[in-house]
Amino acid sequence: MKVLVTGAAGYIGSHTALELLAAGHEVVGFDNLSNSSERAIERVRRLSKRPMRFEKLDLLDMTGLVRLLAEGFDAVVHFAGLKAVGESVEKPLIYWRNNVGGSVNLLSAMRSTGCRRLVFSSSCTIYGEVHRSPVDENHLRSAVSCYGNTKLVVENICFDLARAEPEWKIALLRYFNPVGAHESGLIGEDPKGVPNNLMPFIMQTAVGLRDKVRVFGNDYPTPDGTGVRDFIHVVDLARGHLAALERIDSFTGTEAVNLGTGRGSSVLEMIRAASKAVGRPIPYEFAPRRPGDSAAIWAETALAKKKLGWAASYDLDRMCADHWRWQKNNPAGYDAA
Ligand code: UD1
Repeated sequence: MKVLVTGAAGYIGSHTALELLAAGHEVVGFDNLSNSSERAIERVRRLSKRPMRFEKLDLLDMTGLVRLLAEGFDAVVHFAGLKAVGESVEKPLIYWRNNVGGSVNLLSAMRSTGCRRLVFSSSCTIYGEVHRSPVDENHLRSAVSCYGNTKLVVENICFDLARAEPEWKIALLRYFNPVGAHESGLIGEDPKGVPNNLMPFIMQTAVGLRDKVRVFGNDYPTPDGTGVRDFIHVVDLARGHLAALERIDSFTGTEAVNLGTGRGSSVLEMIRAASKAVGRPIPYEFAPRRPGDSAAIWAETALAKKKLGWAASYDLDRMCADHWRWQKNNPAGYDAA
């Protein structure tokens, strides 16, 4: 297939581009590089030993989008978007313009150039407050943040579009908590500023950029009192996209599939696994709960197996070992390269 990847220089985009190239697909990527580095693309080319065309392009540039899509693509994998939950609450219009406006532009450009296959980067955040896990795809959808709202709305646009025009095939992949890095240590997560998410914070602490990890809440109704999440290796996640693309013609319009491991791990378990990978204890302290956090959430994975023939394969130790290799080799991310 000839596949266009939006947000190709980002964390999940770069890992997915690599898996697509390794599987023999032709990949063209674009990114506005607002929160990512073109070095990720250079490294994907180096690892895959295959050519990959890349353009600096923004989803809000409708003319550029139509020009690129007019080349003819079999499918689009759409990652481009803003993803900081806290920032989204402070700057909602920027999130709505980029994530929702940008996705409408993309779908319009696809429509006008005859491309009707899309894999969209959704999130388990659209399940809102979850009281019982595993959570399956039929769980009520709601959002507690502006970021979550934008994911929910793009899902709804996709449902509406495929209802109106049945030739669309759209996979909404709802990610749980992506962590880890490619085993080469050459590509990985490179958050700008202070990380919001647990794993990059743990790894930046391990490398000496932060003093200690603050564990948000130790009084949750979970086995050790700390939050429980379904951490999934980013390479497993990338392979989930490959599986979705290769099965997309079996989709009926728009369908949503969870991408998780089906296993919950606590924040303390993660810190322990990371300490083992790093070879020394990672300092932490308990802090108050973070507003908007659920106690526990993990995925029901049966549909992913049935629909995509895909299941995650890497465990927590492997996620930590690979994430650590990336962090250790690139303590300041791509910029220092
Ligand atoms: C967060 C987002 C979610 C997004 C996902 C992307 C929120 C409320 N949710 O999920 O919308 O799709 O990232 O990966 O931001 N924790 C600490 N200390 C830290 C950071 C986190 O204890 O410094 C805890 C959290 O309280 C939580 C767990 O670690 O229990 C995971 O947190 P995080 O990595 O931020 O992911 P989510 O909140 O699950």
